[in-house]
Amino acid sequence: MIRARITGTGSYAPAKVVTNFDLEKTLDTNDEWIRTRTGIVERHLVVEGENTSDLATEAARRALEMAGVAPTDLDLIIVGTITGDYPWPATACIVQSNLGATNAGAFDLSAACSGFLYALAMGCDRIAAGNARKVLVIGAEVFSRIVDWTDRNTCVLFGDGAGAVVLEACEGDRGVLSTHLYADGSQLELLYQPGFGTRNTPSVEGIARGDHFVKMQGNEVFKVAVRSMAEVAKIALDANGMTTEDIDLFIPHQANIRILDAAAKRIGLRDDQVYVNVDRYGNTSAATIPIALDEVNRAGRLKEGDILLLDAFGGGFTWASALVRW
Ligand code: UT7
Repeated sequence: MIRARITGTGSYAPAKVVTNFDLEKTLDTNDEWIRTRTGIVERHLVVEGENTSDLATEAARRALEMAGVAPTDLDLIIVGTITGDYPWPATACIVQSNLGATNAGAFDLSAACSGFLYALAMGCDRIAAGNARKVLVIGAEVFSRIVDWTDRNTCVLFGDGAGAVVLEACEGDRGVLSTHLYADGSQLELLYQPGFGTRNTPSVEGIARGDHFVKMQGNEVFKVAVRSMAEVAKIALDANGMTTEDIDLFIPHQANIRILDAAAKRIGLRDDQVYVNVDRYGNTSAATIPIALDEVNRAGRLKEGDILLLDAFGGGFTWASALVRW
């Protein structure tokens, strides 16, 4: 059986770091509130001239280098993002050009914070179907350009960054064992960007209302996120005939430490099974899971055969899990 194996990981976060104390200077907020309600201590933010495709390209270069794969060997590039450089064309096409991946198709995938796991699933399926041998999957976001920096309810939560993996067709029992994807569009207004698509086109009034900024009802999102992440984790375990005891590392979407803790508890995982880095990056949306995966990989924390459970929830709503034998 052919399955997709992760042979390289890479990540990149902008050099500029903004702490909670920095935010205190311009916003009616404080370090204590942000730290206790979210677990976030600092986040990386782009500076002028730095764009989503730049972060994605750097993360991709690092993943390709680790995998020992040349850009020209890639069959496909998928970027999970909702903050691409342009509404269209795809940021993946810019990454394709930056890398010189002249034999690859490229597209973006919009699933908000679940974007990386959705993209991973597409890459795995393309490989399993025999239509690709080497796929680059990226999660990359620049949320700092779509949050209202005067809205303390949202702006303190997000950061910018990118993470990437190289998937290669392999035989044997290592690799991505399963992916599960779900969505519920009936409550989209709990977490969305109202402008400016074709439903709400650019206008002076729309800009004045701040329609181009992220809108979120945080506590409602919180409840659905915990429930959905727990459910989709259990679905992954059941599908593979595994229990929580089999999990070496749980890498959840890093939105809020309280969401991670509550979801992990509901699934039945111990604290030492859960990877957390939301303190240093904030919520980088589609980039959180590949950044975390790259961190644990480069720290030498993963052994061959380890079982990893990846789990995400985001706007849409969308939620997803992937079970990986490393
Ligand atoms: O990736 C998926 C996307 N999003 C999420 O996962 C976010 C999910 N939700 C959350 O993480 C949490 O709901 C938040 C962190 C956004 C908010 O935490 P909360 O415990 O649900 O607080 P709250 O929204 O109920 O607000 C409590 C209070 C409010 O004041 P009042 O009305 O009680 O006087 C807010 O105005 O905290 C106030 N508040 C702040 N205070 C200081 C909200 N933001 C801030 C802030 N600094 N930055």
